[in-house]
Amino acid sequence: MKKIPVIIDCDPGCDDAIALLLAFASDRMDIKGVTVSAGNVNINNTTENARKLVGAFKPELKIAKGCEKPLFKTIVTAPEVHGESGLGSVRLPETDKKLEGITAIELIAEILKESEEKINIVITGPMTNIAVFLMVYPELKSKIEKFIIMGGSSIGGNVTPSAEFNIYVDAEAADIVFKSGVDIVLCPLDVTMKAFVTEKELGEIRNIGGLASEVAYGAIKTSLDFYKEFYQKSEVPMHDPCTIAYLLNSELFKGERVFLGTELKGEFTYGETIIDYRNKFGQEKNALVLTEIDRAGFITLIKKTVETLNK
Ligand code: RIB
Ligand code: CA
Repeated sequence: MKKIPVIIDCDPGCDDAIALLLAFASDRMDIKGVTVSAGNVNINNTTENARKLVGAFKPELKIAKGCEKPLFKTIVTAPEVHGESGLGSVRLPETDKKLEGITAIELIAEILKESEEKINIVITGPMTNIAVFLMVYPELKSKIEKFIIMGGSSIGGNVTPSAEFNIYVDAEAADIVFKSGVDIVLCPLDVTMKAFVTEKELGEIRNIGGLASEVAYGAIKTSLDFYKEFYQKSEVPMHDPCTIAYLLNSELFKGERVFLGTELKGEFTYGETIIDYRNKFGQEKNALVLTEIDRAGFITLIKKTVETLNK
């Protein structure tokens, strides 16, 4: 079966970690590189988390550090969700895995220049790295198959009443990506809030055993504790893994092709995504926006991932 070429740009982050595990476990994924953004926590911590995850599960992968702040704003982080480290209670083994001696932007350019085929770019954090890449290397845009993005919402925000975190942190970067002309698959809160793990399923993941089970349990438990405290919920959405799950099995999802944009000027609505399901603006439909998920199939994929990586 043809492998899926992908670059993963992430801000690990508990749910980013689960997304990475899904990618690491699949022999269909041809991961060309991992690039790191600032978001859930500062760039040094997201980069260290990514380095240790790659070192533990896929040490041959190239990994590079990206932008330490958004294009114009000061960085907004979410340690209340992911812990100060960015991976909550997860303790990853020490590793001598080294970062590439180039920036995330340069690594993306190097990979695309060398590739004879188009490459998918998965984005699970603020889009600063990808926006800078598009501005510095516009000629390489044609080497991108599509962007698969976790971000945005038409059902209300998780940072402001209308803005989702990944967009809110750097809406100008999101605007550049949305207007790039590269095809987009968006996993907004509309679908990721339906991709939840229950406490029972979390216990089943824990019982699989091994390092992957410990990492998955610790990452999901950290997020669950936040959802229990702040939303009195005992089901925790797995936002970022939806991106990799889509690449591995798009049949798990339903979606609509619509116009996607973001608000940059609103005093109260900065970072709100415009997901124009009813085509009110009559703009070009630049994105497939996912709206439904086969949750049982999604959970099965997460468990299979942990079993595959169990070591
Ligand atoms: O709003 C959820 C998104 O923000 C996820 O990517 C999570 O990791 C945080 O970055
Ligand atoms: Ca993320």
